[in-house]
Amino acid sequence: MKKYAQVLVALVMLNTAQANEGMWIPMLLSANEAEMRAMGLELTAEDIYAINKSSLKDAIVHFGGFCTGEIISSQGLVLTNHHCGYDAIQSHSSVENDYLKHGFWAMNNAQELQNPDLYVEFLKYMEEVTNDVLKGVHDGLSNRERQRIIDDNMRSIILEKKTGSDLLFTIKPFFEGNRYFLLATQRYQDVRLVGAPPSSIGKYGADTDNWMWPRHTGDFSIFRIYADASNNPAAPSMTNVPYQPITHLKVSLAPRKKDEFTMVFGYPGSTQEYIPAAAIDQIVNVQNVLKIRIRETKLQLLDARMRQSDALRIKYASKYASTSNAWKKWIGQNIGIKETNGIDKKRRYEADFMYQLSKNDVLWEKYNTVLPQLNVYYHELEQWAVARDYFIEIGYIGTDLMRFVQRFRALQNAPITDTVLIQRTASGLAGGIDAFYADFEASADKEIMAALIEIYMEQDKKFIAQNFAINQQLNKKDYNGFANSIYSNSIFSQDTSATYLNRMLAERPFELKHILDYDPAFLVMTDFFDGYVNQVMPEYNRINAQIQALQREYMAAQMAVFTQRKFYPDANSTLRLTYGVVEGYSPKDAVNYTYQTYLDGVMAKYIPGDYEFDLPQRLLELYQTKDYGRYGEGDKMPVCFIASNHTSGGNSGSPALNGKGELIGLNFDRVWEGTMSDLNFDRSICRNIMVDIRYVLFVIDKYAGAGYLVDEMTLTNE
Ligand code: ARG
Ligand code: GLU
Repeated sequence: MKKYAQVLVALVMLNTAQANEGMWIPMLLSANEAEMRAMGLELTAEDIYAINKSSLKDAIVHFGGFCTGEIISSQGLVLTNHHCGYDAIQSHSSVENDYLKHGFWAMNNAQELQNPDLYVEFLKYMEEVTNDVLKGVHDGLSNRERQRIIDDNMRSIILEKKTGSDLLFTIKPFFEGNRYFLLATQRYQDVRLVGAPPSSIGKYGADTDNWMWPRHTGDFSIFRIYADASNNPAAPSMTNVPYQPITHLKVSLAPRKKDEFTMVFGYPGSTQEYIPAAAIDQIVNVQNVLKIRIRETKLQLLDARMRQSDALRIKYASKYASTSNAWKKWIGQNIGIKETNGIDKKRRYEADFMYQLSKNDVLWEKYNTVLPQLNVYYHELEQWAVARDYFIEIGYIGTDLMRFVQRFRALQNAPITDTVLIQRTASGLAGGIDAFYADFEASADKEIMAALIEIYMEQDKKFIAQNFAINQQLNKKDYNGFANSIYSNSIFSQDTSATYLNRMLAERPFELKHILDYDPAFLVMTDFFDGYVNQVMPEYNRINAQIQALQREYMAAQMAVFTQRKFYPDANSTLRLTYGVVEGYSPKDAVNYTYQTYLDGVMAKYIPGDYEFDLPQRLLELYQTKDYGRYGEGDKMPVCFIASNHTSGGNSGSPALNGKGELIGLNFDRVWEGTMSDLNFDRSICRNIMVDIRYVLFVIDKYAGAGYLVDEMTLTNE
């Protein structure tokens, strides 16, 4: 009896351990319905995704292709993160009207600001097209032949769909290429900025608090979709009118409860949940370690500069944030994999996989070599993957100068006889000159180049271009001298560069094209690329193609062996639903985090004048008077909360919904120790971080006095 109870407990634990993992395809949600309802969902799978009636999916948008947003009013109001709207907010900001610093609030439709490059996309429907995509594909084909057939099939499926439709169509592989789905979307291109809090609320805690819990950021901004008179997509125009959505989310003012059901509906970008232990080992212990070291070198130099002057701090704020975002995530990933014994866990899974496989003759015959072969190929890939990281992190994106001069490859590549192309390329380049030089500081960038090239030269000569291998200065380890010779002599790194380039592009693009052949910055950039393209990429791509093919088989094999397990496909920037419950976590011995933060915590972090932890006066006043209206919880104002939803990059701005499908929060981050959920989700420490919707409404209404926006929404639980 006792034994039976133990087995039962073990089974239940196994079940709950898996319960929150997964980013599910909305179209196939009925498979999860029972579990979701047991956890607290009060809707059906059809209420979440349907194509012949309105469903929650009609309120979700892919925001600009990089974030998620949701419709929260019948007048096309879209909510997303502050960091998702950041570029739009920045583009309207100037020294006189610094919306990043002070926030922006349109007090009526006429004051809303257009954003020429911003769009939102609705998923209209999706459809499995695996059989049509794989038509003509059989086991005997080479990878290349296989891919050609697939590409041809996809092209003709899309062509057929396109006829007579104004929707956009894409086909994407799921389950590592074992299944294919067609996605039909509708894109709206007139998306206007409606409101944004000051960065001291929307980006509160900045890089210090990024990827961390407890968190106190009001990371939201508001936009509105505009359509033509018939509610259809239209190019940005003042004659457009607010879009009338099929449906919009209701907003719940109810307080958070422990173990309350939550789901997050959005567009996670990419994950690698089905790679072998050997691959995780390589990512964590080799690649992350290298990339962390490279970025740390750069961040230290940037930080020292930013502390020297306010002007430099402003120039570098955004670059520092993006360099530090991935850096900090990788560190968290390594901590989390270690904390949870992620690699061992995968090894045990693989042992079980091989054992189960061995019990079935047919499957054994078909798949027994897949995992061992994968391990061999990952091992072979390692040195090339590392060389690729050196190139990307140093040659490609390491310095502003290298990143910038790459753009001029288009000019150099244009045939000298093609006058039209050269002029067109030149005017395209001219458009980006001033913006680049506004934030470029040659002396700081030079320092970074010297430090990074030193790291780059650690590599075996076989991975780097001939010119680097025989360079006198580099061979003498004179990295400062090397950087000096570039930055002192290039047309791209002088005080006068912006003026010079603007003039040359406008008046003498042909001459500029010739000058590129002799410019030291352009030449060094070319060397970085030559080294990669000729000496690294071919092997990297060859081995990687083998890995892709084997990952496809390994995925199929896992699904064939573990028939009881529900599998979800890796994230691929398509709409997914993930669900979990509101709960705290314990990242290490004796440390226990609860799930909700309050305005008291915001105040506790306040450092007047600090660029990460300053606060606006008005918020201090509201805190003093405890004027929280209907948004507070007694005399406390909730700010952020965490739950065990399986999210990833791209889920920023995604709605957190309760069991009724009502909006309770806005996803914007994950906890540090849990960022390894992209490789190996572990319920014990993986948590997503959301702004509590009550804080969002409080800031809109009480802080900004834009209560008319709240009036547009449909509130429940008042
Ligand atoms: N970590 C979040 C994400 O990956 C937020 C990034 C923006 N915030 C920042 N401080 N860099 O996008
Ligand atoms: N901040 C991330 C984003 O921009 C979401 C956080 C995550 O990666 O989980 O999508």
